Amino acid sequence: MSKLAELNTFIDQMHSLSAMPATINKVLELVNNPESSLKEISRVIEKDFELSSKVLKIVNSSYYGFKEKISSIQMAVVALGINTLRSMATGISFLNAIGHALEEVINLQKFWEHSMATAVIAGMAVKNIKPDFKEDIFVSGLLHDIGKVVLLQWVGRLYKKTEEKSKLENKPLFMCEKELIGVNHAEAGSLLAKKWHFPEEIIFTIEFHHQKDIFHLNRKEKKNIYANAVYFANQVALEKEIGQSGDFYREILPDELLDYLRLKPFDVVEIFKTSDSYIRHLKKTI
Ligand SMILES: [Fe+2]
Ligand SMILES: [Fe+2]
Repeated sequence: MSKLAELNTFIDQMHSLSAMPATINKVLELVNNPESSLKEISRVIEKDFELSSKVLKIVNSSYYGFKEKISSIQMAVVALGINTLRSMATGISFLNAIGHALEEVINLQKFWEHSMATAVIAGMAVKNIKPDFKEDIFVSGLLHDIGKVVLLQWVGRLYKKTEEKSKLENKPLFMCEKELIGVNHAEAGSLLAKKWHFPEEIIFTIEFHHQKDIFHLNRKEKKNIYANAVYFANQVALEKEIGQSGDFYREILPDELLDYLRLKPFDVVEIFKTSDSYIRHLKKTI
């Protein structure tokens, strides 16, 4: 059995873990049932009080800047769409519950800070190419590294060795994961996202957020813009040293990527500076 097939089986088994929040399985059940309604999905999320208050805090943050206060999950569904909202809710629920159970190998707070920073910067990075993607791309940025938690759950302490290798050899973490575990976090995350029927652009972004030449392909496709913006945002978040993702390698952003995103050097400087206030505001939601 290949390593990827092994991980696939492990992810199926993961759904019956006691640490797995019931909300995730319930939402998944409803998504798989063509008879279920948007209202039912929203109601399941709403019933999970801790989760829904977290989601509402994010949706009401200065990053989104909605004029009216979003006071219920139903309203959030109207603002963001059911697929984006349920991906946000299940992703957060998973990262908090499973991440929490793994706290001796992961600094969850720092992981969230890196994820939030990437989400904010990705939203700012589409301002010239497709400004109306700003609201939706946030979730792709927020969940881009979800595969790290899957790998942590799968291999436990061995995962630390991939981080050590990245630091010691100054090599991208995803390459070290591939060498030591046989699967990297981009592959692991996209496997999970596919199983959860996440929107295509989220799956694609998770899978390709480390692929630096992806901007050569299908340049106008939504998913391609997402993956490139998140690639950019991840590198900027690493450069700014916001939070911690376990990756010690720093890449030089290719000029073609900035051209593709239509970002001039002063745009990049502005993103560097102005992202801080949004990130600070979002940190309070963790
Ligand atoms: Fe990553
Ligand atoms: Fe990352």
